[in-house]
Amino acid sequence: MDLLEYQARDLFEQFGVPVLPGRIATTPEEAVDAYAALGTDLAVIKAQVRTGGRGKAGGVKLARGADAVRATAGEILGLDIKGHIVETVMLSPGADIADEFYFSILLDRAAGGFIAMCSIEGGMDIETLAVERPEALIKVDLDPIDGITGAVAADIVTKAGFPADAHAAVGEVLTQLWRVFKESDATLVEVNPLVRTGDGRIIALDGKVTLDTNADYRHEEWDSYANTTGDTELERQARELDLNYVKLDGSVGVIGNGAGLVMSTLDVVAAAGAELPGSPRPANFLDIGGGASAAVMANGLRIIMSDPQVRSVFVNVFGGITACSDVANGIVNALEILGDEARLPIVVRLDGNSVEVGKAILAEAAHPLITVKNTMDEAARTAARLAAEGN
Ligand SMILES: Nc1ncnc2c1ncn2[C@@H]1O[C@H](COP(=O)(O)OP(=O)(O)OP(=O)(O)O)[C@@H](O)[C@H]1O
Ligand SMILES: [Mg+2]
Repeated sequence: MDLLEYQARDLFEQFGVPVLPGRIATTPEEAVDAYAALGTDLAVIKAQVRTGGRGKAGGVKLARGADAVRATAGEILGLDIKGHIVETVMLSPGADIADEFYFSILLDRAAGGFIAMCSIEGGMDIETLAVERPEALIKVDLDPIDGITGAVAADIVTKAGFPADAHAAVGEVLTQLWRVFKESDATLVEVNPLVRTGDGRIIALDGKVTLDTNADYRHEEWDSYANTTGDTELERQARELDLNYVKLDGSVGVIGNGAGLVMSTLDVVAAAGAELPGSPRPANFLDIGGGASAAVMANGLRIIMSDPQVRSVFVNVFGGITACSDVANGIVNALEILGDEARLPIVVRLDGNSVEVGKAILAEAAHPLITVKNTMDEAARTAARLAAEGN
């Protein structure tokens, strides 16, 4: 889960990381109120979206005076930044920036551990820096238990080439950012830029934080992020039902067991749809995992069928530990639970453990919405055709 900048700012503040005051607004008038509350002359107004490069896209601007704040907030709100529409802005006092640095802590899956990255050439796009001047970006492996101790921080600031008079202050911020990373179960904490002001203070001027949702059971405080996760309404409902669902923009609903099978189902549906009028595409990813109980199947079908774009559903199951007979019973019972709510054709392909029994159960039920196909390709073609016809 990626936090918005203002949420990262709040989190940093809780851990004692020096940040600027920040206030959010969703309308130009609210921005004027926020400006007054900050009591600053010069304000920076920043788009709150989950993507980088906001500055270049016109999403970070300075303004002085209530009229300029109202106008500037009006320009930024509603802006489309790489497909993200700006719904919220954050206002902060303008800072007197002397130097901009880069610092991040991340989970490096390839290295199987945490690393810290640091550069005294901050502010600019870090991907560009890493390509054009890799020697300016230092990387330090971190001990997963100890993380950034005072000694590790001293090593990082020395290697990165910070001016000697900044070592102590920057080092302290790095140890605080490690605490944010560790105690928040983050997989990324990035500060770009970390700045030194004209009067020598070190401040985290921007923050990007990714939290590891595998740890959500031990972070009740994350509930407050629930309405700002960027999830669609259907994804939010699916999450509450413990379903592994991602909304896509097509018209063929997809349910499968196992992430790999569902991914290839999406590909096969897209390929089948490409040959048809309107090129129907997958409407979602939904992995119902191991046990395909009637309740899980009903929840999955309900979520998919409440997507107004969906015209047909493809249930693609490979029986492994879960037998196809259980899945078939799950589908039949789910349709009973749903009653009139089930309104779209469902194409089912079963294979693997107990496939014959499973097919017999579906044949016996003879539900008018269900069509059974023997192969994944055939089933994908049928589901795509039904979606094309349904439009
Ligand atoms: N409070 C501030 N006062 C003065 N200048 C600021 C302030 N906040 C940001 N800036 C300037 O704006 C630049 C861009 O800000 P920021 O890093 O927050 O956005 P960004 O880098 O464009 O977005 P992203 O980090 O999402 O790519 C900073 O590098 C800094 O020069
Ligand atoms: Mg930045």
